[in-house]
Amino acid sequence: MIRIAHISDTHITGEGAFKSYAFDLIVEEINRGNFDFVIHTGDITDQGLREEYEQAAYQLKKIKKPLVVLPGNHDVRNVGYKLFEDFIGPLNGVYEFKDGVVIWVDSTIPDLSDGRIGGQKFRWLKEKLEEYSDRKFKMVAAHHHLVPLPDTGRERNVLFNAGDVLDLLLRNEVTLYTCGHKHVPNVYRVEDLVIDNAGCTSCKKTRRGDVNSYSIIELHDEGEVKVTIRRVIGDEVSKEHKPVRPKIFIPGGKRILRIAQVSESNVSDRVYFRKKTLENAIRMINERLKPDLVIHNGDIVDAGIERYYEMAYEYYKGIMAPKVVIPGHNDITYLGYELFQEYFGEPEIMELNDVVVIPLLTAQYETPIGVVGWMGQKKLRGLLQEYEGKFRIVALHHNVIPIPRSREVGFLEDAGDVLKVLTDEGTELVLTGHGGNAYGVKIENTPIVNSGSISWELHRNPFGNSFNLIDIYTDMVVVWEVQSTWGSTKLLGIWKRKA
Ligand SMILES: [Fe+2]
Ligand SMILES: [Fe+2]
Repeated sequence: MIRIAHISDTHITGEGAFKSYAFDLIVEEINRGNFDFVIHTGDITDQGLREEYEQAAYQLKKIKKPLVVLPGNHDVRNVGYKLFEDFIGPLNGVYEFKDGVVIWVDSTIPDLSDGRIGGQKFRWLKEKLEEYSDRKFKMVAAHHHLVPLPDTGRERNVLFNAGDVLDLLLRNEVTLYTCGHKHVPNVYRVEDLVIDNAGCTSCKKTRRGDVNSYSIIELHDEGEVKVTIRRVIGDEVSKEHKPVRPKIFIPGGKRILRIAQVSESNVSDRVYFRKKTLENAIRMINERLKPDLVIHNGDIVDAGIERYYEMAYEYYKGIMAPKVVIPGHNDITYLGYELFQEYFGEPEIMELNDVVVIPLLTAQYETPIGVVGWMGQKKLRGLLQEYEGKFRIVALHHNVIPIPRSREVGFLEDAGDVLKVLTDEGTELVLTGHGGNAYGVKIENTPIVNSGSISWELHRNPFGNSFNLIDIYTDMVVVWEVQSTWGSTKLLGIWKRKA
Protein backbone atom coordinates (compact mmCIF):
# COMPACT_ATOMS: atom_id res chain seq x y z
CA MET A 1 0.00 0.00 0.00
CA ILE A 2 1.12 3.54 -0.76
CA ARG A 3 0.22 6.33 1.67
CA ILE A 4 0.34 9.94 0.58
CA ALA A 5 -0.26 13.13 2.54
CA HIS A 6 -1.94 15.77 0.40
CA ILE A 7 -1.55 19.35 1.64
CA SER A 8 -2.48 22.54 -0.16
CA ASP A 9 -2.91 26.30 0.09
CA THR A 10 -0.41 27.02 2.81
CA HIS A 11 -0.37 30.73 1.83
CA ILE A 12 2.93 31.34 3.57
CA THR A 13 3.47 35.04 4.19
CA GLY A 14 4.99 37.25 6.86
CA GLU A 15 1.78 38.79 8.11
CA GLY A 16 -1.82 37.90 7.47
CA ALA A 17 -3.17 34.76 5.90
CA PHE A 18 -0.58 32.24 7.11
CA LYS A 19 -1.31 30.23 10.26
CA SER A 20 2.10 28.89 11.25
CA TYR A 21 0.77 26.81 14.18
CA ALA A 22 -1.65 24.93 11.87
CA PHE A 23 1.22 24.35 9.45
CA ASP A 24 3.52 23.03 12.18
CA LEU A 25 0.79 20.84 13.66
CA ILE A 26 0.02 19.19 10.33
CA VAL A 27 3.67 18.85 9.30
CA GLU A 28 4.55 17.20 12.62
CA GLU A 29 1.69 14.75 12.19
CA ILE A 30 2.85 13.97 8.64
CA ASN A 31 6.46 13.48 9.78
CA ARG A 32 5.34 11.08 12.50
CA GLY A 33 2.97 9.25 10.16
CA ASN A 34 3.70 6.43 7.85
CA PHE A 35 3.69 8.32 4.54
CA ASP A 36 5.59 7.46 1.37
CA PHE A 37 5.52 11.01 0.10
CA VAL A 38 3.72 14.37 0.31
CA ILE A 39 1.98 16.40 -2.40
CA HIS A 40 1.44 20.14 -2.07
CA THR A 41 -1.07 21.34 -4.69
CA GLY A 42 -0.17 25.01 -4.73
CA ASP A 43 -0.69 28.46 -3.25
CA ILE A 44 2.45 27.87 -1.26
CA THR A 45 2.86 31.61 -0.84
CA ASP A 46 0.27 34.35 -0.61
CA GLN A 47 1.50 36.92 -3.11
CA GLY A 48 4.42 35.27 -4.90
CA LEU A 49 6.86 37.70 -3.28
CA ARG A 50 10.56 37.12 -2.75
CA GLU A 51 10.42 37.22 1.06
CA GLU A 52 7.48 34.81 1.02
CA TYR A 53 9.41 32.38 -1.17
CA GLU A 54 12.39 32.59 1.18
CA GLN A 55 10.13 31.80 4.09
CA ALA A 56 8.29 29.07 2.17
CA ALA A 57 11.54 27.34 1.22
CA TYR A 58 12.44 27.31 4.92
CA GLN A 59 9.00 26.09 6.06
CA LEU A 60 8.78 23.31 3.45
CA LYS A 61 12.13 21.94 4.61
CA LYS A 62 10.37 20.94 7.82
CA ILE A 63 8.65 18.18 5.83
CA LYS A 64 10.88 15.12 6.22
CA LYS A 65 9.35 13.10 3.37
CA PRO A 66 9.78 13.28 -0.40
CA LEU A 67 7.75 16.28 -1.52
CA VAL A 68 5.98 17.06 -4.80
CA VAL A 69 5.14 20.78 -5.08
CA LEU A 70 3.36 22.69 -7.82
CA PRO A 71 2.36 26.34 -8.22
CA GLY A 72 -1.02 27.93 -7.48
CA ASN A 73 -2.46 31.20 -8.73
CA HIS A 74 -1.14 33.06 -5.68
CA ASP A 75 2.41 31.80 -6.31
CA VAL A 76 2.54 33.26 -9.81
CA ARG A 77 1.40 36.75 -8.78
CA ASN A 78 4.04 39.42 -9.24
CA VAL A 79 5.92 37.17 -11.69
CA GLY A 80 6.33 34.68 -8.88
CA TYR A 81 6.65 31.76 -11.31
CA LYS A 82 10.29 32.73 -11.83
CA LEU A 83 10.89 32.62 -8.07
CA PHE A 84 9.03 29.32 -7.82
CA GLU A 85 11.64 27.72 -10.03
CA ASP A 86 14.49 29.31 -8.06
CA PHE A 87 13.24 28.58 -4.55
CA ILE A 88 10.97 25.55 -4.87
CA GLY A 89 11.52 23.54 -8.05
CA PRO A 90 10.23 22.85 -11.56
CA LEU A 91 6.71 24.04 -12.47
CA ASN A 92 5.89 20.75 -14.20
CA GLY A 93 7.32 17.30 -13.67
CA VAL A 94 7.03 13.64 -12.91
CA TYR A 95 7.55 11.78 -9.63
CA GLU A 96 7.78 8.00 -9.77
CA PHE A 97 6.95 5.66 -6.92
CA LYS A 98 6.43 1.91 -6.61
CA ASP A 99 3.70 0.90 -9.11
CA GLY A 100 2.86 4.49 -9.81
CA VAL A 101 3.58 7.98 -10.99
CA VAL A 102 2.53 11.53 -10.18
CA ILE A 103 2.48 13.91 -13.11
CA TRP A 104 2.22 17.47 -11.87
CA VAL A 105 1.17 20.36 -14.07
CA ASP A 106 1.24 24.09 -13.63
CA SER A 107 -2.39 25.13 -14.24
CA THR A 108 -1.93 28.82 -13.48
CA ILE A 109 -2.33 31.87 -15.70
CA PRO A 110 -0.22 34.85 -14.59
CA ASP A 111 -2.32 37.47 -12.76
CA LEU A 112 -5.58 35.53 -13.02
CA SER A 113 -7.27 33.35 -10.43
CA ASP A 114 -8.56 31.07 -13.18
CA GLY A 115 -6.73 28.03 -14.42
CA ARG A 116 -5.93 26.38 -17.72
CA ILE A 117 -3.98 23.35 -18.89
CA GLY A 118 -3.92 24.32 -22.53
CA GLY A 119 -1.75 24.18 -25.63
CA GLN A 120 1.76 22.86 -24.97
CA LYS A 121 0.98 21.88 -21.39
CA PHE A 122 -2.01 19.79 -22.47
CA ARG A 123 0.14 18.06 -25.07
CA TRP A 124 2.90 17.49 -22.53
CA LEU A 125 0.41 15.97 -20.07
CA LYS A 126 -0.99 13.72 -22.79
CA GLU A 127 2.50 12.54 -23.73
CA LYS A 128 3.40 11.81 -20.12
CA LEU A 129 0.18 9.86 -19.60
CA GLU A 130 1.02 7.77 -22.65
CA GLU A 131 4.61 7.30 -21.51
CA TYR A 132 3.51 6.02 -18.11
CA SER A 133 0.40 4.18 -19.29
CA ASP A 134 1.66 0.86 -17.89
CA ARG A 135 1.71 2.14 -14.30
CA LYS A 136 -0.89 0.73 -11.98
CA PHE A 137 -1.51 4.06 -10.26
CA LYS A 138 -1.49 7.17 -12.40
CA MET A 139 -1.89 10.41 -10.52
CA VAL A 140 -2.22 13.89 -11.93
CA ALA A 141 -1.78 16.91 -9.67
CA ALA A 142 -2.56 20.56 -10.42
CA HIS A 143 -3.84 23.55 -8.48
CA HIS A 144 -7.28 24.14 -10.02
CA HIS A 145 -10.35 21.96 -9.63
CA LEU A 146 -11.91 19.96 -12.46
CA VAL A 147 -15.46 19.48 -11.28
CA PRO A 148 -17.57 22.20 -9.60
CA LEU A 149 -17.21 22.33 -5.82
CA PRO A 150 -19.86 22.99 -3.20
CA ASP A 151 -19.63 25.84 -0.69
CA THR A 152 -17.55 28.09 -2.91
CA GLY A 153 -20.17 30.77 -3.42
CA ARG A 154 -20.35 31.57 -7.07
CA GLU A 155 -18.64 28.74 -8.91
CA ARG A 156 -15.64 29.87 -10.92
CA ASN A 157 -11.94 29.33 -11.51
CA VAL A 158 -12.47 25.78 -12.69
CA LEU A 159 -9.90 25.13 -15.40
CA PHE A 160 -11.10 26.93 -18.54
CA ASN A 161 -10.71 23.66 -20.45
CA ALA A 162 -11.81 21.37 -17.62
CA GLY A 163 -13.90 19.27 -20.03
CA ASP A 164 -10.91 18.42 -22.18
CA VAL A 165 -8.71 17.68 -19.18
CA LEU A 166 -11.36 15.52 -17.51
CA ASP A 167 -11.85 13.59 -20.73
CA LEU A 168 -8.08 13.12 -21.13
CA LEU A 169 -7.76 11.75 -17.58
CA LEU A 170 -10.69 9.37 -18.03
CA ARG A 171 -9.42 8.08 -21.36
CA ASN A 172 -6.01 7.40 -19.84
CA GLU A 173 -7.49 5.64 -16.81
CA VAL A 174 -5.96 8.03 -14.32
CA THR A 175 -6.50 6.82 -10.77
CA LEU A 176 -6.47 10.10 -8.93
CA TYR A 177 -6.51 13.84 -9.56
CA THR A 178 -5.37 15.99 -6.67
CA CYS A 179 -5.92 19.72 -6.47
CA GLY A 180 -6.55 22.58 -4.06
CA HIS A 181 -7.40 26.22 -4.72
CA LYS A 182 -10.90 26.76 -3.31
CA HIS A 183 -10.05 25.84 0.28
CA VAL A 184 -12.91 23.34 0.38
CA PRO A 185 -12.07 19.72 1.17
CA ASN A 186 -14.12 17.44 -1.08
CA VAL A 187 -13.81 14.01 -2.66
CA TYR A 188 -15.71 12.99 -5.79
CA ARG A 189 -15.61 9.87 -7.87
CA VAL A 190 -15.97 10.46 -11.58
CA GLU A 191 -16.28 7.00 -13.15
CA ASP A 192 -13.08 5.36 -11.87
CA LEU A 193 -11.22 8.62 -11.33
CA VAL A 194 -11.06 9.87 -7.76
CA ILE A 195 -10.80 13.64 -7.42
CA ASP A 196 -9.32 14.79 -4.14
CA ASN A 197 -9.75 18.49 -3.53
CA ALA A 198 -7.69 19.37 -0.50
CA GLY A 199 -8.94 21.99 1.92
CA CYS A 200 -6.44 24.54 3.13
CA THR A 201 -3.58 23.47 5.31
CA SER A 202 -2.53 26.73 6.92
CA CYS A 203 -4.49 29.68 5.57
CA LYS A 204 -7.01 31.74 7.53
CA LYS A 205 -9.36 31.74 4.60
CA THR A 206 -11.41 28.61 5.19
CA ARG A 207 -15.01 28.51 4.02
CA ARG A 208 -18.24 27.93 5.85
CA GLY A 209 -16.42 28.16 9.18
CA ASP A 210 -14.30 25.11 8.40
CA VAL A 211 -10.90 24.49 10.02
CA ASN A 212 -7.52 23.67 8.45
CA SER A 213 -7.08 20.21 7.03
CA TYR A 214 -5.15 17.88 4.76
CA SER A 215 -5.97 14.60 3.02
CA ILE A 216 -4.58 11.14 3.53
CA ILE A 217 -4.55 9.08 0.36
CA GLU A 218 -4.14 5.32 0.41
CA LEU A 219 -3.52 3.34 -2.75
CA HIS A 220 -4.20 -0.30 -1.98
CA ASP A 221 -2.55 -3.16 -3.82
CA GLU A 222 -5.90 -4.40 -5.22
CA GLY A 223 -6.46 -1.01 -6.88
CA GLU A 224 -8.71 0.47 -4.22
CA VAL A 225 -8.34 4.17 -3.40
CA LYS A 226 -9.18 5.58 0.01
CA VAL A 227 -9.15 9.27 0.78
CA THR A 228 -9.52 10.62 4.30
CA ILE A 229 -10.04 14.29 5.04
CA ARG A 230 -8.22 14.98 8.27
CA ARG A 231 -9.06 18.24 9.99
CA VAL A 232 -7.06 19.81 12.83
CA ILE A 233 -10.25 19.59 14.94
CA GLY A 234 -13.16 17.19 14.49
CA ASP A 235 -13.75 13.76 13.03
CA GLU A 236 -12.12 12.27 9.99
CA VAL A 237 -14.25 11.66 6.91
CA SER A 238 -13.25 8.84 4.58
CA LYS A 239 -14.30 7.68 1.15
CA GLU A 240 -13.28 4.51 -0.60
CA HIS A 241 -13.47 3.60 -4.24
CA LYS A 242 -12.98 0.28 -5.90
CA PRO A 243 -12.56 0.52 -9.67
CA VAL A 244 -15.47 -0.94 -11.66
CA ARG A 245 -13.94 -3.34 -14.15
CA PRO A 246 -14.70 -4.76 -16.65
CA LYS A 247 -16.83 -1.94 -18.04
CA ILE A 248 -18.84 -3.84 -20.61
CA PHE A 249 -22.21 -4.79 -19.19
CA ILE A 250 -25.22 -6.46 -20.72
CA PRO A 251 -28.60 -5.42 -19.39
CA GLY A 252 -30.26 -8.40 -17.74
CA GLY A 253 -33.43 -6.71 -16.60
CA LYS A 254 -36.48 -5.40 -18.36
CA ARG A 255 -36.51 -2.05 -20.15
CA ILE A 256 -38.74 0.34 -18.26
CA LEU A 257 -38.43 3.49 -20.32
CA ARG A 258 -36.90 4.82 -23.51
CA ILE A 259 -36.17 8.54 -23.78
CA ALA A 260 -35.02 10.63 -26.72
CA GLN A 261 -32.95 13.47 -25.25
CA VAL A 262 -32.69 16.42 -27.60
CA SER A 263 -31.25 19.91 -27.31
CA GLU A 264 -30.13 22.99 -29.18
CA SER A 265 -32.55 22.76 -32.09
CA ASN A 266 -32.12 26.52 -32.36
CA VAL A 267 -35.02 26.75 -34.79
CA SER A 268 -34.72 29.98 -36.78
CA ASP A 269 -34.23 31.23 -40.30
CA ARG A 270 -30.51 31.68 -39.78
CA VAL A 271 -28.17 29.74 -42.03
CA TYR A 272 -26.85 27.70 -39.10
CA PHE A 273 -30.24 26.10 -38.51
CA ARG A 274 -30.35 22.80 -40.40
CA LYS A 275 -34.03 22.36 -41.16
CA LYS A 276 -33.67 19.08 -43.06
CA THR A 277 -31.53 17.59 -40.31
CA LEU A 278 -34.18 18.40 -37.70
CA GLU A 279 -36.97 17.00 -39.88
CA ASN A 280 -34.96 13.85 -40.42
CA ALA A 281 -34.21 13.42 -36.72
CA ILE A 282 -37.86 13.89 -35.78
CA ARG A 283 -38.88 11.31 -38.39
CA MET A 284 -36.30 8.90 -36.99
CA ILE A 285 -37.59 9.44 -33.45
CA ASN A 286 -41.20 8.83 -34.48
CA GLU A 287 -40.77 5.97 -36.92
CA ARG A 288 -37.70 4.04 -35.88
CA LEU A 289 -36.74 4.77 -32.28
CA LYS A 290 -40.24 5.15 -30.81
CA PRO A 291 -39.32 6.54 -27.38
CA ASP A 292 -41.81 6.69 -24.50
CA LEU A 293 -40.77 10.25 -23.79
CA VAL A 294 -38.92 13.11 -25.48
CA ILE A 295 -37.00 15.60 -23.36
CA HIS A 296 -35.79 18.80 -25.01
CA ASN A 297 -33.02 20.22 -22.83
CA GLY A 298 -33.15 23.80 -24.01
CA ASP A 299 -32.57 26.21 -26.87
CA ILE A 300 -35.48 25.04 -28.95
CA VAL A 301 -35.31 28.41 -30.75
CA ASP A 302 -32.29 30.55 -31.51
CA ALA A 303 -33.92 33.74 -30.23
CA GLY A 304 -37.07 34.47 -28.26
CA ILE A 305 -39.22 35.85 -31.06
CA GLU A 306 -42.69 34.79 -32.11
CA ARG A 307 -41.80 33.73 -35.64
CA TYR A 308 -39.18 31.27 -34.36
CA TYR A 309 -41.52 29.91 -31.69
CA GLU A 310 -44.20 29.33 -34.33
CA MET A 311 -41.68 27.39 -36.41
CA ALA A 312 -40.43 25.34 -33.45
CA TYR A 313 -43.96 24.54 -32.41
CA GLU A 314 -44.70 23.21 -35.91
CA TYR A 315 -41.65 20.91 -35.90
CA TYR A 316 -42.21 19.51 -32.43
CA LYS A 317 -45.97 19.15 -32.78
CA GLY A 318 -45.13 16.19 -34.99
CA ILE A 319 -43.50 14.25 -32.12
CA MET A 320 -45.81 11.44 -31.10
CA ALA A 321 -44.41 10.70 -27.63
CA PRO A 322 -45.11 12.91 -24.58
CA LYS A 323 -42.67 15.82 -24.30
CA VAL A 324 -40.91 17.74 -21.59
CA VAL A 325 -39.50 20.97 -23.00
CA ILE A 326 -37.12 22.96 -20.84
CA PRO A 327 -36.08 26.51 -21.68
CA GLY A 328 -32.45 27.30 -22.45
CA HIS A 329 -30.73 30.66 -22.44
CA ASN A 330 -31.56 31.34 -26.11
CA ASP A 331 -35.23 30.57 -25.54
CA ILE A 332 -35.73 33.37 -23.05
CA THR A 333 -33.97 36.16 -24.91
CA TYR A 334 -36.16 39.11 -25.95
CA LEU A 335 -39.81 38.13 -25.35
CA GLY A 336 -38.84 34.49 -25.03
CA TYR A 337 -39.87 34.02 -21.44
CA GLU A 338 -43.54 34.72 -22.21
CA LEU A 339 -43.44 33.08 -25.64
CA PHE A 340 -41.99 29.89 -24.22
CA GLN A 341 -44.88 29.62 -21.78
CA GLU A 342 -47.38 30.35 -24.50
CA TYR A 343 -46.05 27.76 -26.94
CA PHE A 344 -44.65 25.01 -24.72
CA GLY A 345 -45.96 25.80 -21.27
CA GLU A 346 -44.10 25.91 -17.97
CA PRO A 347 -42.34 22.55 -17.68
CA GLU A 348 -43.97 20.37 -15.06
CA ILE A 349 -43.00 17.28 -13.10
CA MET A 350 -43.94 14.22 -15.09
CA GLU A 351 -44.47 10.75 -13.67
CA LEU A 352 -44.37 7.69 -15.90
CA ASN A 353 -44.69 4.42 -13.99
CA ASP A 354 -41.56 4.19 -11.82
CA VAL A 355 -39.88 7.19 -13.41
CA VAL A 356 -40.24 10.84 -12.50
CA VAL A 357 -38.86 13.75 -14.49
CA ILE A 358 -38.07 16.86 -12.47
CA PRO A 359 -37.46 19.91 -14.68
CA LEU A 360 -35.13 22.57 -13.36
CA LEU A 361 -35.30 26.12 -14.67
CA THR A 362 -31.87 27.71 -14.89
CA ALA A 363 -31.86 30.20 -17.77
CA GLN A 364 -31.36 33.90 -17.17
CA TYR A 365 -31.94 36.83 -19.47
CA GLU A 366 -29.19 37.55 -22.00
CA THR A 367 -26.42 35.42 -20.50
CA PRO A 368 -25.21 31.90 -21.19
CA ILE A 369 -24.62 31.40 -17.45
CA GLY A 370 -27.40 29.67 -15.56
CA VAL A 371 -28.47 29.71 -11.93
CA VAL A 372 -30.63 27.61 -9.61
CA GLY A 373 -30.26 29.69 -6.47
CA TRP A 374 -30.64 28.85 -2.77
CA MET A 375 -34.39 28.45 -2.88
CA GLY A 376 -34.19 26.41 -6.03
CA GLN A 377 -31.59 24.10 -4.48
CA LYS A 378 -33.73 23.63 -1.39
CA LYS A 379 -36.78 22.88 -3.48
CA LEU A 380 -34.80 20.45 -5.62
CA ARG A 381 -33.56 18.59 -2.56
CA GLY A 382 -37.12 18.40 -1.23
CA LEU A 383 -38.44 16.99 -4.50
CA LEU A 384 -35.64 14.43 -4.75
CA GLN A 385 -36.47 13.25 -1.24
CA GLU A 386 -40.19 13.23 -1.94
CA TYR A 387 -39.72 10.96 -4.96
CA GLU A 388 -37.10 8.70 -3.43
CA GLY A 389 -37.68 5.12 -4.53
CA LYS A 390 -38.57 6.16 -8.06
CA PHE A 391 -36.08 6.54 -10.90
CA ARG A 392 -35.53 10.28 -10.59
CA ILE A 393 -34.44 12.24 -13.64
CA VAL A 394 -33.49 15.88 -13.21
CA ALA A 395 -33.55 17.77 -16.51
CA LEU A 396 -32.05 21.20 -17.01
CA HIS A 397 -30.30 23.22 -19.70
CA HIS A 398 -26.98 24.23 -18.17
CA ASN A 399 -24.01 22.01 -17.48
CA VAL A 400 -23.12 20.82 -14.03
CA ILE A 401 -20.00 19.05 -15.26
CA PRO A 402 -17.46 20.35 -17.78
CA ILE A 403 -17.99 19.38 -21.41
CA PRO A 404 -15.05 18.70 -23.77
CA ARG A 405 -14.33 21.37 -26.39
CA SER A 406 -16.19 24.05 -24.50
CA ARG A 407 -15.24 26.72 -22.02
CA GLU A 408 -16.87 26.62 -18.62
CA VAL A 409 -19.16 29.64 -19.21
CA GLY A 410 -22.13 27.34 -19.79
CA PHE A 411 -22.00 26.26 -16.18
CA LEU A 412 -24.52 27.17 -13.59
CA GLU A 413 -23.02 29.82 -11.39
CA ASP A 414 -23.96 27.58 -8.46
CA ALA A 415 -23.01 24.35 -10.25
CA GLY A 416 -20.96 23.16 -7.26
CA ASP A 417 -23.87 23.34 -4.83
CA VAL A 418 -26.35 21.90 -7.32
CA LEU A 419 -24.04 19.00 -8.16
CA LYS A 420 -23.73 18.31 -4.44
CA VAL A 421 -27.53 18.18 -4.01
CA LEU A 422 -27.86 15.88 -7.02
CA THR A 423 -25.13 13.48 -5.90
CA ASP A 424 -26.02 13.58 -2.17
CA GLU A 425 -29.55 12.49 -2.97
CA GLY A 426 -28.32 9.77 -5.31
CA THR A 427 -30.28 11.12 -8.28
CA GLU A 428 -30.63 8.29 -10.80
CA LEU A 429 -30.02 10.45 -13.89
CA VAL A 430 -29.27 14.09 -14.73
CA LEU A 431 -29.86 15.42 -18.24
CA THR A 432 -28.37 18.68 -19.49
CA GLY A 433 -28.24 20.27 -22.94
CA HIS A 434 -25.72 23.08 -23.24
CA GLY A 435 -22.37 23.22 -24.98
CA GLY A 436 -23.15 21.53 -28.28
CA ASN A 437 -21.34 18.29 -27.51
CA ALA A 438 -22.61 14.96 -26.28
CA TYR A 439 -20.94 13.74 -23.11
CA GLY A 440 -21.75 11.51 -20.20
CA VAL A 441 -20.00 10.57 -16.97
CA LYS A 442 -21.08 9.11 -13.69
CA ILE A 443 -20.25 11.22 -10.63
CA GLU A 444 -20.65 9.34 -7.37
CA ASN A 445 -23.76 7.26 -8.22
CA THR A 446 -25.33 9.75 -10.60
CA PRO A 447 -24.87 9.54 -14.38
CA ILE A 448 -24.83 13.04 -15.91
CA VAL A 449 -25.61 13.13 -19.61
CA ASN A 450 -25.33 16.11 -21.91
CA SER A 451 -26.87 16.06 -25.37
CA GLY A 452 -25.20 17.59 -28.41
CA SER A 453 -26.95 19.85 -30.84
CA ILE A 454 -29.67 18.20 -32.91
CA SER A 455 -29.80 20.71 -35.76
CA TRP A 456 -27.51 23.73 -35.20
CA GLU A 457 -24.43 23.95 -37.34
CA LEU A 458 -22.41 25.69 -34.64
CA HIS A 459 -21.73 22.68 -32.46
CA ARG A 460 -18.61 21.10 -30.98
CA ASN A 461 -19.21 17.50 -31.80
CA PRO A 462 -16.94 15.61 -34.24
CA PHE A 463 -19.81 13.10 -34.65
CA GLY A 464 -21.96 15.92 -36.10
CA ASN A 465 -25.47 16.93 -35.10
CA SER A 466 -26.89 14.39 -32.73
CA PHE A 467 -29.31 13.55 -29.96
CA ASN A 468 -29.27 10.86 -27.29
CA LEU A 469 -31.32 7.73 -26.97
CA ILE A 470 -31.56 6.62 -23.35
CA ASP A 471 -32.77 3.16 -22.40
CA ILE A 472 -33.51 2.66 -18.73
CA TYR A 473 -33.51 -0.95 -17.65
CA THR A 474 -34.27 -2.26 -14.18
CA ASP A 475 -30.55 -2.88 -13.68
CA MET A 476 -28.80 -0.31 -15.86
CA VAL A 477 -28.90 2.84 -17.93
CA VAL A 478 -27.64 2.76 -21.51
CA VAL A 479 -27.12 5.94 -23.52
CA TRP A 480 -26.60 5.98 -27.27
CA GLU A 481 -25.73 8.99 -29.31
CA VAL A 482 -27.68 9.10 -32.57
CA GLN A 483 -26.37 11.07 -35.54
CA SER A 484 -29.21 13.39 -36.68
CA THR A 485 -28.51 13.06 -40.40
CA TRP A 486 -27.42 9.47 -40.85
CA GLY A 487 -29.00 7.74 -37.91
CA SER A 488 -25.76 5.98 -37.05
CA THR A 489 -25.31 5.38 -33.33
CA LYS A 490 -22.48 5.08 -30.88
CA LEU A 491 -22.41 4.20 -27.22
CA LEU A 492 -22.08 7.24 -24.98
CA GLY A 493 -22.34 5.53 -21.63
CA ILE A 494 -23.48 2.43 -19.85
CA TRP A 495 -23.93 2.43 -16.09
CA LYS A 496 -25.16 -0.08 -13.58
CA ARG A 497 -27.96 1.39 -11.54
CA LYS A 498 -26.73 0.17 -8.19
CA ALA A 499 -22.95 0.05 -8.23
FE1 LIG B 1 -5.49 29.33 -2.03
FE1 LIG C 1 -5.66 29.26 -5.49
